Amino acid sequence: MSDINLQEIHDFLVEIAKKAGEMITAAHPTIGATGNKKNSVDLVTETDQAVEKLISTELQSKYPSFSFMGEETYKPGDTLTDAPTFIVDPIDGTTNFVHSNPYVSSSLGVAINKKPVIGVIYNPFTQILYSAIKGKGAYMNLTEKLPFRQPESLADGLSKAQVAVEWGSDRSGNDLAVKSQTFLKLTSSKEEGGAMVHSLRSYGGAALNLCGVAAGHLDAYWEAGCWAWDVCAGWVVLSEAGGIMVDANPGNWDPRIEERRYLAVRGGEGQKEFVEEFWGYVQGKFEVGV
Ligand code: IPD
Repeated sequence: MSDINLQEIHDFLVEIAKKAGEMITAAHPTIGATGNKKNSVDLVTETDQAVEKLISTELQSKYPSFSFMGEETYKPGDTLTDAPTFIVDPIDGTTNFVHSNPYVSSSLGVAINKKPVIGVIYNPFTQILYSAIKGKGAYMNLTEKLPFRQPESLADGLSKAQVAVEWGSDRSGNDLAVKSQTFLKLTSSKEEGGAMVHSLRSYGGAALNLCGVAAGHLDAYWEAGCWAWDVCAGWVVLSEAGGIMVDANPGNWDPRIEERRYLAVRGGEGQKEFVEEFWGYVQGKFEVGV
């Protein structure tokens, strides 16, 4: 680890993210030309695959000793090792992409010893780049430090919070019930036993959601079902901005990158109490990742 130059890798990832962005904005995906993975809402396009190919080719030629985990080439059973590993989602927000909704990013992360250490997330439509190196802070467009301002206290808890959630692509069974019943609890009035959050937001991209929490636009992001490549890069941006990542299921303060269940909370006084309050509204237990 000591002879790995994290800054140099970060700078290279920024270059690659920009190249990936050119491919993404030049593509014109159509809803009809979309392939499915697990089911009819787990989408993939030729652009996802071509962009991953571009990224993996560039990374493997410059860093041949690093491992690579990418959304489009992942095989069930592949697991993260302690080796330095690029963890990549070529297009996070594929559903948005095929619907021409610009909440889309390339998410390029690096983990060492299974811990996230570099994150680069680039939205080529808005040209906003989020990036972070462990121990060196988080930035928007390389110069604006995150969070944008001194974070307000979280002591007022969920009743003052704007929370991102995602429906994801698991549309049946226990986990869908846990999500939808928890959404109901989070939004409903105190009189009905709810948290009455200011709002729930479902933007459709895990990586940008994590950057939103890092920046302070969002107070929290809660999801189960997403993957290491959805969260690795954003995790570094989040933690370098003072946020924390815990399990979406109550009780686990130290989730793995591959946990598949996450609750991200922005920086600010009262963070721990905020997590505990949130966990108190979770209706049941997610099975994914267990
Ligand atoms: C998905 C998005 C979505 C989230 C899913 C992810 P993809 O990633 O981040 O917001 O709900 O869990 O899998 O498929 O667009 O790369």
